[in-house]
Amino acid sequence: MMSLDIQNDYLEFASVLDDKYYIIDTIGFGRYAKVKLAIDMEDKQKYAIKIMKTDPTTSQCRSDTFINEISTQAEFDHKHIIRIIYCKMNGNYKKIDGRVQQVSYFVMELANQGELFQLLEQTQQFSEKFARNIFSQLIKGIEHLHERGVVHRDVKAENILFSNGVLKLADFGFSTKTIDEKGSRVQFEISQHIGSPEYNPPELYNIGKQKFYNPEQADIFAAGVILFTMVIRSAPFKTSKSTDPYYSLLKNNKQSFWKIFSEIADSSAQFKDLIEKMLDENPLKRITIEQMKQHPWMQGQMLGQTEFQKELKNRYDMILSQQIVKITNKRDTKFSTRKSIKKVETDNISKSVSKYCYENLELIEQINAKLQIKQHSPKEQFKQQSNKSEKLKVGIQQKQQNQYISRTNQESKRSSPGSPSNDSDN
Ligand SMILES: Nc1ncnc2c1ncn2[C@@H]1O[C@H](COP(=O)(O)OP(=O)(O)O)[C@@H](O)[C@H]1O
Ligand SMILES: [Mg+2]
Repeated sequence: MMSLDIQNDYLEFASVLDDKYYIIDTIGFGRYAKVKLAIDMEDKQKYAIKIMKTDPTTSQCRSDTFINEISTQAEFDHKHIIRIIYCKMNGNYKKIDGRVQQVSYFVMELANQGELFQLLEQTQQFSEKFARNIFSQLIKGIEHLHERGVVHRDVKAENILFSNGVLKLADFGFSTKTIDEKGSRVQFEISQHIGSPEYNPPELYNIGKQKFYNPEQADIFAAGVILFTMVIRSAPFKTSKSTDPYYSLLKNNKQSFWKIFSEIADSSAQFKDLIEKMLDENPLKRITIEQMKQHPWMQGQMLGQTEFQKELKNRYDMILSQQIVKITNKRDTKFSTRKSIKKVETDNISKSVSKYCYENLELIEQINAKLQIKQHSPKEQFKQQSNKSEKLKVGIQQKQQNQYISRTNQESKRSSPGSPSNDSDN
């Protein structure tokens, strides 16, 4: 869990990454890496950094995932996609007691209002209007990816973040290009599918019946599950496998399906129609993004920008108010313990990296070069200026503003999504 309630002397006892970033806390536990709240030592801006320990024994699989994630995500420069700012293959992570770890990492813009998951779990039902605002941003993000030949393949509420009132797609760990180097369309094998059972479409379970699937249609199915969950306040089914009673009803007896959920939430006929089309069993009949944009539900009323941001902030503040004491105490304890530790200055450690990481050093440098050009383009400079209000005023307690919540581990997600994280920074 993250709070930006950072006191001056925290920085003095924070871990330091490459003499460039203070590392304050873990804000997310990833499949193969941790996401940390970091502060740039020079300009005091806040960032999220995904860090993976690397040493000569780092496996090919982990380093491939890491490279894949950066190389696809770094290509984008879009309002609804988390931006990567910088990446590094063999960095030094120094703890105050002098221990140094070798790490690979990438620096991202920080989404300071947490996950859609938390909003769903911890705040009251969304009106169709409010859901429409969120959903249309989500679709814009997914559409942008698809137009550029990338599929996300892990669209779910934990990977949809908010930053200053704007939706941001995160977690490109499963994303991939749909066109290969020769310009041909990649074939996606069902047997190699990834993603989460609650969000995956039924064709992924057709093993034996068909060999390939269309990953764009899978992203749309996942977005349909999200839309349903926002409005009905319940997942539509556990999985779209044929054994699931709810998904079977949706396929075979739509009226009964909706009747079950009408006890929880009443929803419009247009909403139901869109959901049925997004969750269609047949991927060829499933609605496309183009058709979705024309769908009557999408033409309905939306909240104005200010109103939307206000509602989002209210919900976020609500979550925060329940957690703030816990987070602050935890961080205070952590840093007071550190004050009693003898501070040890160490040199950076040797640059010997794993064979697999070594093979990718050049690629990482190329990505960085591209990122630098992007950041120095006039458009980016303007953005950075307008972002100045995001700067951290160290020492000033920004209690209600920029707090953030994450969770302990993947398993606890459904049951206790808001519980504070273990201090993994020691
Ligand atoms: N840029 C970011 N800003 C704020 N929080 C983030 C950011 N990136 C990731 N997180 C948090 O960390 C969690 C794990 O990161 P993610 O990239 O989804 O890892 P994984 O692939 O292992 O799921 C996310 O669900 C989110 O809560
Ligand atoms: Mg994730």
